Amino acid sequence: MDVRSHPGAGTSHGVLLFNSNGMDIVYAGDRITYKVIGGVIDLYFFAGPVPELVMEQYTELIGRPAPMPYWSFGFHQCRYGYKDITEIKNVVAGYAKAQIPLEVMWTDIDHMDGYKDFTLDPINFPLDQMKKFVDTLHHNGQKFVLILDPERDASSVFIKRDGVPYLGEVWPGKVYFPDFINPQGRVFWSNEIKIFHDLLPVDGLWLDMNELSNFISSPSSSSSTLDNPPYKINNSGSLRPINEKTVPATSVHFGNALEYNVHNLYGFLEAKTTNAALINVTGKRPFILSRSTFVGAGKYTAHWTGDNAATWDDLAYSIPGILNSGLFGIPMVGADICGFGRNTTEELCRRWIQLGAFYPFARDHSDKFTIHQELYIWDSVAATARKVLGLRYRLLPYFYTLMFEAHTKGIPMARPLFFSFPEDTNTYTIDSQFLIGKGLMISPVLTSGTVSVKAYFPSGTWFNLFNYSNYVNMKSGSYISLDAPPDHINVHLREGNIVVMQGEAMTTRAARDTLFELVVAINNRGNSSGEVFLDDGEDVEMGGEGGKWSLVKFHTNVVNKKLYLRSNVVNEEFALSKNWTIYKVTFLGLKKGVSKINAYNLTTKIRSKIDKSASGVLEMRGLSVLIGKEFTIELTLEK
Ligand code: GLC
Repeated sequence: MDVRSHPGAGTSHGVLLFNSNGMDIVYAGDRITYKVIGGVIDLYFFAGPVPELVMEQYTELIGRPAPMPYWSFGFHQCRYGYKDITEIKNVVAGYAKAQIPLEVMWTDIDHMDGYKDFTLDPINFPLDQMKKFVDTLHHNGQKFVLILDPERDASSVFIKRDGVPYLGEVWPGKVYFPDFINPQGRVFWSNEIKIFHDLLPVDGLWLDMNELSNFISSPSSSSSTLDNPPYKINNSGSLRPINEKTVPATSVHFGNALEYNVHNLYGFLEAKTTNAALINVTGKRPFILSRSTFVGAGKYTAHWTGDNAATWDDLAYSIPGILNSGLFGIPMVGADICGFGRNTTEELCRRWIQLGAFYPFARDHSDKFTIHQELYIWDSVAATARKVLGLRYRLLPYFYTLMFEAHTKGIPMARPLFFSFPEDTNTYTIDSQFLIGKGLMISPVLTSGTVSVKAYFPSGTWFNLFNYSNYVNMKSGSYISLDAPPDHINVHLREGNIVVMQGEAMTTRAARDTLFELVVAINNRGNSSGEVFLDDGEDVEMGGEGGKWSLVKFHTNVVNKKLYLRSNVVNEEFALSKNWTIYKVTFLGLKKGVSKINAYNLTTKIRSKIDKSASGVLEMRGLSVLIGKEFTIELTLEK
């Protein structure tokens, strides 16, 4: 995506070289050069002229992002090295005891028998006990996800070389790699998923090592130059052979497709196959997390940024990492919170959960050879986790509505600042802050020993979401220094936005049952808008034909010294059937006092105290407004 300021002429366009071969992409500030070692040259241009439209046009071509289940927006805990079922039970209990929300417990390859896919270690993770464990999680509104590596020990549906299945080496030792281009390979994989799911009803699947990763590098073929093409591309940061630690380029897939050409499609095809298999087995919206992706992978899978390290640098890099994934059409993305490799520290983990609470996908994950980093281990991390995850869970309706926008238009949930401010050229290089949706800005601390943060604020009024009467008012965009004490991350809502929230809870299921509130941040002219998408959170379709969903749009405007907040409901039946109710509306940014409040179409009287203080905050509590029913609130503003 190219963004630049052309006064009066739009700012953005996109370019895609749709080619799956190895390539170097050289960016030189004012030009981009593609050096491709094979395949076709299909070049697409997306006219924009603003970032949102580039994303709409791009994802119309490559596929719109998969809807993610509501629960997947809860907090996830994983670790490579949980040694047995007792340990994972203790982790779940540790979260409950510390009153930190835990939505999903994960296991890495440790649950497997000899690291073989679709197996359970009979001693440490016995099936009968695992079944009970998963049942208990489900009973408590929690979920279970486990890992798969794309390798197996026998069958005829594997990638071949020299006429026989290619033998590589991964966690279990010698392995073959399923061929997802082969229809029989897909049937094989889908059956494995079905058989395993019948035994243990996992809620999602984690697809790892699918680049393809191989622990050995096989010798090049003597009869072909494909294993050693003359132009050396960048491979893991240097000009290493393309066959290093992967399936050799001279291997073949179904239909004689050469690994040389289809190598980069492996993870994508595995995700596509797994997505279809899970829908088939569960009848529900699948959750898949894949390490490898390709153009269009967002249609099938979520993504994490891979093996980072517990360093301050990697904390900072996680922001461009997730923002890039969003631009690639894979909006459900996160980095391993508190860091995967190396030992984390209390301070780093505390700052990381403050940031990670606002990743679209929020999972704490660590390597076997590191110290434990579950959020309850340090009191200060636990306290901050309760605070920031508390806000995340209140914002679940907002995240989920952004998922709907991503699914229908391709616009990322986490966005660079230039998405909302493409005319403000200062925003173009900012990668230490980001937006959730149109107007919620996250400004984290990314360095050690720091208790303030220099943050850029585009013009406008920005309200602190932890403390509404605290705001930043910018005539034009500039940097300011914000307090960021050890337990705090700065989160600001820009004028003009209406955010729909619910209450804090220990699970997304419990949060969904709490009352709703609106935070209405009006601009100078009294305008603001926002919306909320509502469905059961796990229908295969999101916003599909069947209509088992509602979309409620809110906006404000001022006419004759009266400020109106109105709602407009698409498909009211669903929301009404749930009795979902708004109990509180908070107006931010009122410039005048309010002398009178009228309401139309509300089922209850407003018993709100009118706040005439200078803070510009008016809280209306004790309401009982059905979210599925259109209403109007009218505030008479003082002269
Ligand atoms: C890979 C994954 C990592 C996982 C490990 C063991 O390194 O990226 O997340 O923990 O394999 O399965």
